[in-house]
Amino acid sequence: MSAWLNPIQRWVWSDPVRRGYRLLRFAEVEADGGRDLARAAELTPDPKLRRLYLRHAADEQRHSDMFRRRGAALLRESARRGAGWQPDWLAPGERGLDDVEVEEGRDGPLLAFLHLSEAAAARSFAVYHQAVGADAETREVFARILKDENFHMSYTRHELGRVAPQKQGWLLWKARLGRLWKGYLRFAVALAGVMGAILLTLQYFILLPVFALGAKRAAKREPEGWAPARDKRDLKGQY
Ligand SMILES: [Fe+2]
Ligand SMILES: [Fe+2]
Repeated sequence: MSAWLNPIQRWVWSDPVRRGYRLLRFAEVEADGGRDLARAAELTPDPKLRRLYLRHAADEQRHSDMFRRRGAALLRESARRGAGWQPDWLAPGERGLDDVEVEEGRDGPLLAFLHLSEAAAARSFAVYHQAVGADAETREVFARILKDENFHMSYTRHELGRVAPQKQGWLLWKARLGRLWKGYLRFAVALAGVMGAILLTLQYFILLPVFALGAKRAAKREPEGWAPARDKRDLKGQY
């Protein structure tokens, strides 16, 4: 994540309640990733990868516990409640681990995908580590997790070279394109949400007053109090 985002990141992480909810969201993603890696360990025929996937799964589960504990402590310490605005796209956590695709006999694509996700996570966590400012405990959580993410990033790259020496470059490109496509879809969904909100607000302020005016005028034409029915045939209609 580039340096120009740092002031925005400082703002995202400045509020302890928002920080707490962000960490709880990260905990969900890490636990989800841990389950997928345990599944990958079950499916791989490669004994070395099985051992590494299991260690990776245990790391992600530990990250989840650390994030959950710190997030819950922050929310407990704060008197205020309510998540407020949660800019997921500004501080996505270990994004990628939330949509790992684990299939039998596909260690190459999985390792390429994991390598890119872990590299992105390591970059993001390095930024968050700086952005949390004076909150030493949260900074310590990020520092400890960052060490593991760096290990995940390097072992996945090394193992990709071992299991797919000929195709490693292509697999990395394919994984990169897949991540770009998913990023575009996330952006499109967010944009559609914003556009929808703008259009509904405009409709509310532009169209609704016209109907309200029409209703007011029609009400003025109506006589006050009880009045005989305009057309007696009306009464035969439904009843
Ligand atoms: Fe992690
Ligand atoms: Fe990781």
